[in-house]
Amino acid sequence: MENTFTLSVTVNGTSYQRSVDPRTLLSDFLRNDLGLTGTHVGCEHGVCGACTVLLNGDPIRSCLLFAPQVHNHEIITVEGLGTMDDLHPLQEAFQEAHALQCGFCTPGFLTTLVSYLEENPSPTEEEIREAISGNLCRCTGYQHIIDAVKLAAGKMNT
Ligand code: FES
Ligand code: FES
Repeated sequence: MENTFTLSVTVNGTSYQRSVDPRTLLSDFLRNDLGLTGTHVGCEHGVCGACTVLLNGDPIRSCLLFAPQVHNHEIITVEGLGTMDDLHPLQEAFQEAHALQCGFCTPGFLTTLVSYLEENPSPTEEEIREAISGNLCRCTGYQHIIDAVKLAAGKMNT
């Protein structure tokens, strides 16, 4: 392939090297090249938050970055948060508090909130609302998500 970029990146603890078109979006790279389809693509212009992943620990919109921009950096996707047998406490809390319905938005909420809870382990309800203000959900009405974050904070602080 002409005009390719050789991308080295660590995703969920695994190192990858792939040749990519320089204009490949990070979201498309994760989904199409690595098969990590837990990262969802909704609006594709930075509004819905469904594509959120962690770049060196910070949440970013993977639809707004080109894959070469994460060269030599570390990405965590929703697949890296927990496993079916060993869910992250926030994933457990989402399950227990019924914080998802169709689940399309959920990976973006989880990656956003895992990072947020590390910075603020005991958020108030108002702070939780602020923390999720960049993530859109068409199903839950948000209250169950807020309840799940409170539940997770309790789990993670014990
Ligand atoms: S798909 Fe990236 S913010 Fe909506
Ligand atoms: S659970 Fe359906 S969009 Fe959030």
